[in-house]
Amino acid sequence: VLRSVVTGVGAYLPEEIMTNADLEALVETSDAWIQERTGIRERRRARPDQPTSDLAVEAAKQALAEAGRTAADVDLIIVATTTPDLTFPATASIVQRKLGAPVCIAFDVQAVCSGFVYALSVADGFVTRGHAKCALVIGAEEMTRLMDYTDRTTCVLFGDGAGAVVLEAQEGQGTTADRGLLGFALRCDGTKTDLLYVDGGPATNGQVGHLRMAGNQVFRHAVVNIAEAVRAAVEAAGIRIEDVDWFIPHQANQRIIAGVGERLGIDEAKVVSTVAWHANTSAASIPLAWRAAMDDGRVKPGDLVLIEAMGGGLTWGACAIRM
Ligand code: ACO
Repeated sequence: VLRSVVTGVGAYLPEEIMTNADLEALVETSDAWIQERTGIRERRRARPDQPTSDLAVEAAKQALAEAGRTAADVDLIIVATTTPDLTFPATASIVQRKLGAPVCIAFDVQAVCSGFVYALSVADGFVTRGHAKCALVIGAEEMTRLMDYTDRTTCVLFGDGAGAVVLEAQEGQGTTADRGLLGFALRCDGTKTDLLYVDGGPATNGQVGHLRMAGNQVFRHAVVNIAEAVRAAVEAAGIRIEDVDWFIPHQANQRIIAGVGERLGIDEAKVVSTVAWHANTSAASIPLAWRAAMDDGRVKPGDLVLIEAMGGGLTWGACAIRM
């Protein structure tokens, strides 16, 4: 059977660091409150002249280099983003041009913070049916562009960044020992759109808008529902939670990360967390954390990795991957 194997992981963070102290100067908040409620210490912010596609390209280049591939090899580009450079074309088209990739399949996926998990599953469909051999799946976001810097309940939570993986078609045995994406679970509950949304758009008020969130209610939804999707993805993969080497959750809030890990009975030592340094980078957060856990020697070839995310929509999902 054809498998989509992760052959490279890349990440990029803009240079500018916004600390909690920087936010204390903008809104009535404190470093202590932010750390206690979220675990966040700092986040990155892109330059005004640095669009989402630039972040995506840097992450993609690192992923391609690790895979031993060049842009010329790429035949599918999917960008998961909720902060596209322009309303259209898709940011994936701009990334294709900037990378110098040949004419290929390229489009964006919009599932907010769950976008990376959704995009991986879409790419997996192309690769495992033989329609793509070398796919780039990128999560790239500039959430700071959507912040209302007078709203302390949201502006402290988000940051900018990008992460990418290269997926390559490889023959497997059809067992859980195969490298590749082993199983998914994806969910959306559109009755909860009003809990987390941006109050602008071309077909409403013609504005970019600001992120609005009923944080408390999103929080309550998160732990229980994410855990259910993780169990479903693990079952689809044919593995057990105990087999998982590394749990790499969407990085929204340390309390959600810890709560989900606890509910699933995953040893704390297996949980990868970068939320302190990246804050919530939406679709970019999983590959950013993944790269960090490879750089420090945790995630290695052969390891079983479990990813999950939840975000606006509400959308959520999970995927089990053999490195
Ligand atoms: N600084 C100081 N005080 C604050 C701040 C702040 N930045 N923000 C809120 N407060 C205050 C509130 O006004 C409230 O004050 P009050 O009691 O006088 O009314 C108090 O702190 C408690 O507010 P809560 O909202 O109840 O605080 P909570 O413990 O729920 O933490 C938080 C808020 C961090 C937003 C939490 O609810 C959360 O993380 N929710 C989930 C958000 C999330 O992770 N979403 C993931 C998906 S994001 C995406 O998909 C784009």
